[in-house]
Amino acid sequence: MSDKDIIICRCEDVTLYDIKEAVRKGFKDMESLKRYLQIGTGPCQGKTCIPLTEKTLAKILNEKVDNVGHPTSRAPENPVPFGIFTVKKK
Ligand code: FES
Repeated sequence: MSDKDIIICRCEDVTLYDIKEAVRKGFKDMESLKRYLQIGTGPCQGKTCIPLTEKTLAKILNEKVDNVGHPTSRAPENPVPFGIFTVKKK
């Protein structure tokens, strides 16, 4: 089995090969990897692939997992009825 067959992020179709290539190009922290490869931006929002990518990156860089960083979490936006913003007249 080659690195191209090992799926790290199944939502965004990112393989171990993609991560190794990104690291080779200089994307050596979780935030830049996420932005470059879209890891963790799929429907599952990275529930499995973010921890897996952190472990993979740490192994590639020969670092501890705590040293590779963690991508910034952004709260999902919820739709709000427009009427909520109107000012009531007295
Ligand atoms: S597996 Fe990576 S975002 Fe779903």
